[in-house]
Amino acid sequence: YPLASTIDFDSSEELLQRLPNALIIGARKGGTRALLDAMALHPRIKAARREIHFFDHNETFAFGYDWYRDQMPFSISDDVTVEKTPAYLASELAPRRVFAMNPEMKLIVILRDPVIRTISDFTQVVLTRMERNKTRPTFESVVFNNDSRTINTDYKPIRNSLYAKHLKRWLKYFPLSQFLFLDGDKFITNPIPQLRAVERFFALPAAIQPDQLVFNPMKGFYCFRKAEKRTARCLGDSKGRAHVPVSLKSQRLLAKNFRFHNDKLFKLINQRFLWS
Ligand code: A3P
Repeated sequence: YPLASTIDFDSSEELLQRLPNALIIGARKGGTRALLDAMALHPRIKAARREIHFFDHNETFAFGYDWYRDQMPFSISDDVTVEKTPAYLASELAPRRVFAMNPEMKLIVILRDPVIRTISDFTQVVLTRMERNKTRPTFESVVFNNDSRTINTDYKPIRNSLYAKHLKRWLKYFPLSQFLFLDGDKFITNPIPQLRAVERFFALPAAIQPDQLVFNPMKGFYCFRKAEKRTARCLGDSKGRAHVPVSLKSQRLLAKNFRFHNDKLFKLINQRFLWS
């Protein structure tokens, strides 16, 4: 399937909408929006602004490749075109569909300590329920089974933290060399090394300047400044918000339960993260 809408053999510099050659597939609450915005500071990286949900939603997938391409930013042939939909990681269908479109696709996964990620995910779920005037469950009642010891792997915020389970599906289609695994916890406090890893991954020159990442003490997070702009843009209020308080005891119990899954992940991807 041609990757560009018109193929111009004379000029590789033609600005066209092209299908992505890279995806940020997750994890949800891993820092995917911040990563996308920061990557887009690179002059050779062109990012689709919204989450397209092309590979995980049947209705969207049915629109076809031409529709998907129409959602992409304009780029020249050597640019990296990237789309991010964090729901791809846990999707049953996405790996096969991505492979069918482009077996060379580069895949970026930004992971956080699953304990923190689960609390962040739960916070989002609870706030959405409250906006809809629905009742708010306690954290422990949904994340743990009735035995109050083991985790409820059917509960989405827990399921989304079982990284190895989901990556196994992706690794059936794509070799490890096509993945980049980033540390979402480190990205929050010190984004530059993670961004250098992105530039290396795409064999791009290091072009994102440290002064384009401006720490905002009010928000407690970095904001991003485009090279031509004077002020930095911060992410919205739903990114980097206070979490629902969870007792240390429950956090430890979660950590204990996740250890097995984390070890599986580290073996699978041949990389370790310093998690609780
Ligand atoms: P919290 O809101 O739990 O702190 P995603 O975009 O994948 O949904 O990830 C959201 C998370 O990105 C936030 O989770 C936040 O911790 C993290 N993040 C990383 N860098 C950030 C930044 N510069 N501004 C805001 N949030 C950032």
